[in-house]
Amino acid sequence: MCGIFGYIGRKEALPFLIEGLKKLEYRGYDSAGVATIKGGKIQLSKCVGKISFLEDKLAQKPLTGKIGIGHTRWATHGQPSDENSHPHQDCKSELAVVHNGIIENYQELKIQLSGRGHRFLSSTDTEVLAHLIEENYQGDLLSAVRKTIETVRGTYAMAVISKSDPKKIVVARSGSPLIIGLGENELFLSSDIPAMLKYTSRVIYLENGELAVMTPGGVKVFDLKGKEIAKEIDLISWDPESAEKGGYAHFMLKEIHEQPNAIRKTIAGRIQPDSHKIHFDELTMTKEEMRTINRVVFTACGTSWHAGLIGEYLFEQFARLPTEVEYAAEFRYRHPIIDKNTLVIAITQSGETADTLGAVWEARAQGAKTIAICNVVGSTIARESDGVIYTNAGPEIGVASTKAFTTQLTVIYLLALLFGKVREIISESEATKLIQDLIEIPDKLEKVLLGEEGIAKIAGKFYQATNSLYLGRGKGFPIALEGALKLKEVSYIHAEGYPAAEMKHGPIALIDKNMPVVILAFAGRRYEKVLGNIEEVKARGGQVIAIATEGDDAIARQADEVLYIPNTTEALSPLLAAVPLQIFAYYIALKRGCHVDQPRNLAKSVTVE
Ligand code: G6P
Repeated sequence: MCGIFGYIGRKEALPFLIEGLKKLEYRGYDSAGVATIKGGKIQLSKCVGKISFLEDKLAQKPLTGKIGIGHTRWATHGQPSDENSHPHQDCKSELAVVHNGIIENYQELKIQLSGRGHRFLSSTDTEVLAHLIEENYQGDLLSAVRKTIETVRGTYAMAVISKSDPKKIVVARSGSPLIIGLGENELFLSSDIPAMLKYTSRVIYLENGELAVMTPGGVKVFDLKGKEIAKEIDLISWDPESAEKGGYAHFMLKEIHEQPNAIRKTIAGRIQPDSHKIHFDELTMTKEEMRTINRVVFTACGTSWHAGLIGEYLFEQFARLPTEVEYAAEFRYRHPIIDKNTLVIAITQSGETADTLGAVWEARAQGAKTIAICNVVGSTIARESDGVIYTNAGPEIGVASTKAFTTQLTVIYLLALLFGKVREIISESEATKLIQDLIEIPDKLEKVLLGEEGIAKIAGKFYQATNSLYLGRGKGFPIALEGALKLKEVSYIHAEGYPAAEMKHGPIALIDKNMPVVILAFAGRRYEKVLGNIEEVKARGGQVIAIATEGDDAIARQADEVLYIPNTTEALSPLLAAVPLQIFAYYIALKRGCHVDQPRNLAKSVTVE
């Protein structure tokens, strides 16, 4: 939550700050601000609302200077307002601070600082940082920030500029991401890689407990004791174009369309072309270690948690391993019973979700083995888990997750098959057939995408609904949850996902002629039972939109609308079925005039608990 961008170099900082913040807007978009230094003075501009509001403000009164920091906010402490927007300043307006994270002991610090005469202008936790740095400053900004860190508890990625040290950005990180980009005679600072991909592909990841001093001459990284640390420079291979909309109206639509290729990239190099053997380079576990696993726990939040639910079905089916799925926030604080034979798989697009990270720490503390299924290379979870499998989906910018989800399902499918093979539950020939089914998925997804116009038309019929129900059985159930979540996120229509069999235990009371009911009715073991549920909904006047398998013409006589997906093995049908529901949610949101890529109140990366 919240995005930070910084620039120091030979050019004017402001255009970089605005451009960078726009790319980070998905992390929070309730207010924004920038600060630069020019002529030995801090210049600052901030306001409530999206970055475009700030841009308008800056058009009237631009900031100048070749050093600057910026922030886009998702409010935690203090409502969105001009005063609560970052950057925050000290009493004398000599320095400016931007911060992502939460200072947990800010109240007690604020009381102490107020007692010593400091004046506070906002109700944020961040402002205490500015006043502490002010107090701690004795001629060296780095030392002042280091001293400040000693007194605060919580999480932070922060960047500070000061008129007393006008050629420096001092940054520090603990718990929230911060990456330094190295350009030609210029340095960038960002909360994520895509925001600076346009300018450089050479980056340094700051680790927890590290501080850095950025000057026009380069960057130096230090530990909390002030000792300089030699850092590696990582080369990012993502194509800068991947962080742009590429002609699509929204990132969400672009990312929906990227799914066939994203899955091809997820599979690439992991399935040997002739033998169809599965191989994950990044997975350091040996076969012997894999055989010691007697239990699997998936842990995640949001859409990634839904991927975990599918994982439960797949691991039980292919690997015959007892598997559970836990919300990360519940798992981490519940004294989970796990040991060295438990494999904890954390699923996360961003690799920065605070609760998922906490779940990984908890799992490791209890001696479990941890694997992260993650999209963002070099993210915190990727570095803090025993092993990582990247989904290779490329940057996902739209707040509602799409391609990250289907690539997570791809990785989980392969991983379940790998465990199934190692544990000798599935034979070589079964595995080969199932892998072939996966290889065919991208082409089948392309077919699903060709149906976009038809799905948009159906969306046009239902966009005025106020409530909706999504039902599925077996592997259709997590997709019902995910379909409902997509609709809620982007259109604000109330949507509930339910196991279809549970409908009779409550939700059936909600059904009337105004209630669209989306039913996952693809081919599989539970198909007939799902047909029964469709009848039950129809008998109560509900309107049914069925997701069915091509060739199932009969269902069109029962359901009001049918969205078809190509035939595949039952284990992969959820992956195909997720996509028409993404498109459906997208077009409903569009018809309702919603801000698809930046839905209200949400943020892409939830870095606070
Ligand atoms: C937020 C996003 C969701 C995402 C969830 C988990 O709520 O809006 O799209 O599924 O966080 O994020 P992660 O990066 O851990 O997958």
